Amino acid sequence: MKPIKIGLLGLGTVGGGVVTVLTRNAHEIARRAGREVIISHAAAKEYDAGAIEGLDRIDRITDDGFAVVNDPEVEIVIELIGGYSPAKELVLQAIENNKHVVTANKAMIAVHGNEIFSAAQERGVTVAFEASAAAGFPVIKAIREGLAANRIHWLAGIINGTGNFILTEMRDKGRDFAEVLKEAQELGYAEADPTFDVEGIDAAHKLTILGSIAFGIPLQFEKTYTEGISGIERQDVAYADELGYRIKHLGISRRTDAGIELRVHPTLIPARRLIANVDGVMNAVLVQCDAAGPTLYYGAGAGSLPTASSIVADVIDAVRALTTDPENRVPHLAFQPDAMSDLAVLDMADISTAYYLRMQAVDRPGVMSAVTTILGNLGISIEAIIQKEPEAGAGHVPVIMLTQRVQERNMNEAIRQIEALDTIAGNVHRIRVETLD
Ligand code: HSE
Repeated sequence: MKPIKIGLLGLGTVGGGVVTVLTRNAHEIARRAGREVIISHAAAKEYDAGAIEGLDRIDRITDDGFAVVNDPEVEIVIELIGGYSPAKELVLQAIENNKHVVTANKAMIAVHGNEIFSAAQERGVTVAFEASAAAGFPVIKAIREGLAANRIHWLAGIINGTGNFILTEMRDKGRDFAEVLKEAQELGYAEADPTFDVEGIDAAHKLTILGSIAFGIPLQFEKTYTEGISGIERQDVAYADELGYRIKHLGISRRTDAGIELRVHPTLIPARRLIANVDGVMNAVLVQCDAAGPTLYYGAGAGSLPTASSIVADVIDAVRALTTDPENRVPHLAFQPDAMSDLAVLDMADISTAYYLRMQAVDRPGVMSAVTTILGNLGISIEAIIQKEPEAGAGHVPVIMLTQRVQERNMNEAIRQIEALDTIAGNVHRIRVETLD
């Protein structure tokens, strides 16, 4: 059979990895796909020719992405330029030209995926996006296909490597936030705009995608609650340790009677959980289902070759799908487009979880009882309290509390009332707690 011709948009870290993997493993890939896979046309504004193994095998390299998506010889387009625009326009043009698309672009899928999938559906082509979440391991395929028999209850994932690296280094080496972030940027893990990593936006893009394929709901990035790790202090990491917990930046999606939770925030989880021990830049996703029970997926969440691994696997799937009936392919979001659910995404005030609270209290009798009275009046039970020795010369003592599960609306009100006490200095720091059992 004739080789299949690929158009590649982007020759950066991930694009270079794709060229390398397709070159290095060409024989294995052809044995799996049933045809040789070659990149015939690539587009990049700039690239480091000396750093890409196999670049000499590409027939044409241009700086015009539209030349690639309009090339009649190209059957599959790999989009690796990232961001919203012109990535979206290029992908829609490729679909318009009846080409299959493989992308690692989580921002584009999370925000424009509904429109893109609907266009692909009309044209009978596939848009594959395995590398868009937990880039180096096939968690999308696992949820969408491997767990297709199950009713999924919830999933929770460490889905931003940069954030996990920062939290791990803060805990293990007592390093400062800013210094570790700089290292993550130098290692090539961080997004072009690192606020996407530290403020949780990157993780929210990925969670939006995972929540959709788990529950068959449309992509709703704008409804995903997003909180980053920039407010986490070294003392929180140490107190969490003392209480038997680790702080992880989690994306959580859960089915409840009232609707679907989609939330990204720092979370205390028991240190004994496997996922609590996923450190450094590694990612992991824990999925709880009715039939399979808990399953855990672990691996690299970023990096040139791990991301290329998922992209090339998607290309192989696309090659195999070329001769199949479009009606009988795996649906983009796991559920048939006409069987998507309109379950509401819950407002954060409506979710229930346990909490870690840290506050600075004046060291005098009666302070603690004022705080516990506020919590008690709002139906919030306390699980544990630690009061630290005042530091020499300081008029305040740190008080740390763990509460039982309560609706976030009530906790918001409790925090408002506690912060209004003249015996409490500054803000109450709140981190949500999940037992993941
Ligand atoms: N900036 C992302 C991360 C890259 O750190 O996980 C992979 O999506």
